[in-house]
Amino acid sequence: MTKTPIRVAVTGAAGQIGYALLPRIASGAMFGPDQPVYLNLIEIPDEKAMSALKGVAMELDDCAFPLLQGMVLTSDLNTGFKDVNWALLIGSRPRGPGMERNDLIKINGPIFTGQGRAINDHAAKDVRVAVVGNPCNTNALIAMHSAKDLPKQRFTALTRLDQNRAQSQLAQKAGRPITAVQNTLIWGNHSATQVPDYFNTTIDGKSAADVIQDKAWLQGDFFKTVQQRGAAIIAARGASSAFSAANALVDHVRDLVNPTPKGEWRSVCVVSDGSYKTTEGLISSFPIRSDGKGGWEIVQGLTVQPFIQEKISATVKELEQERAVVADLLR
Ligand code: NAD
Ligand code: LMR
Repeated sequence: MTKTPIRVAVTGAAGQIGYALLPRIASGAMFGPDQPVYLNLIEIPDEKAMSALKGVAMELDDCAFPLLQGMVLTSDLNTGFKDVNWALLIGSRPRGPGMERNDLIKINGPIFTGQGRAINDHAAKDVRVAVVGNPCNTNALIAMHSAKDLPKQRFTALTRLDQNRAQSQLAQKAGRPITAVQNTLIWGNHSATQVPDYFNTTIDGKSAADVIQDKAWLQGDFFKTVQQRGAAIIAARGASSAFSAANALVDHVRDLVNPTPKGEWRSVCVVSDGSYKTTEGLISSFPIRSDGKGGWEIVQGLTVQPFIQEKISATVKELEQERAVVADLLR
């Protein structure tokens, strides 16, 4: 074990996603089987939450993970984000049945101002941030604005769960294995307006639109299933997705830490540079390639079909509306 340990902060560490995520980080699934980690576990200053967090830490101890070098359990943000190389911002309220994710904006948005500032002031110089707490695009925007000294490129939010959902739906419809579906692409907001781009996604190297010649399904049930999957899980389980969200976050970070294979991309919410007629400055999902050294780029030159472009405009409009609602948190 020769690598220098990294330090990873996880907020909401005693929650549902945290519970499914922490063993995956500590076992090396996120940062690699030879990367030692310290975990900074952050919860709210509440007796029940801190007690649950202690239980989670005891279970991590009991796994005797060789890569886990130590843990900090805290409700103090300055302590929690001290020297961290990655900040995984999960802690926040999940939506319930009948709610949209952006109904949470007024409750969850303010969490990300204090966290953004604490990351700015206390994290390691190379810190990178992944936001999961909903509405995750706009919460990432708030954290990014609150971390005045950090490059905006350090902030990402999660559409990997949507990418994985779309990949799975396309594989099932085509009767092909998951691995046959590549470059599954989600544009825009992690919300009911997100855009699963079946045209730029491939099945066995061909556009999914050519392989699945059922346009009504691609533009109808496929879109709806992916856009509404979170709500469907809440309706079925009585609680929002948890291990699939944790799994998506493992995929998201692992694929940002490593170089993206030639010819491929991943769906990641990053700050827009105006590409593909999106609004500069918003956190929106794009096809992203990582250089494996902390940098990434938005893949340019993809053909965007008129149907998809129209949907991108609608999801960007929703992101603009969310930004307007939290304008007071962006100063
Ligand atoms: P949960 O209620 O099980 O756990 C949330 C935890 O966060 C709780 O332990 C709570 O005490 C803690 N918390 C709340 N405010 C906090 C704060 N300010 N600082 C630190 N911790 C705080 O919820 P969950 O199922 O783990 O979901 C967490 C969030 O992730 C929700 O907002 C949910 O909607 C979102 N989510 C996003 C995606 C995605 O793909 N982006 C997927 C699933 C869930
Ligand atoms: C999901 O997509 O499963 C999460 O964002 C949870 C939710 O509220 O839908």
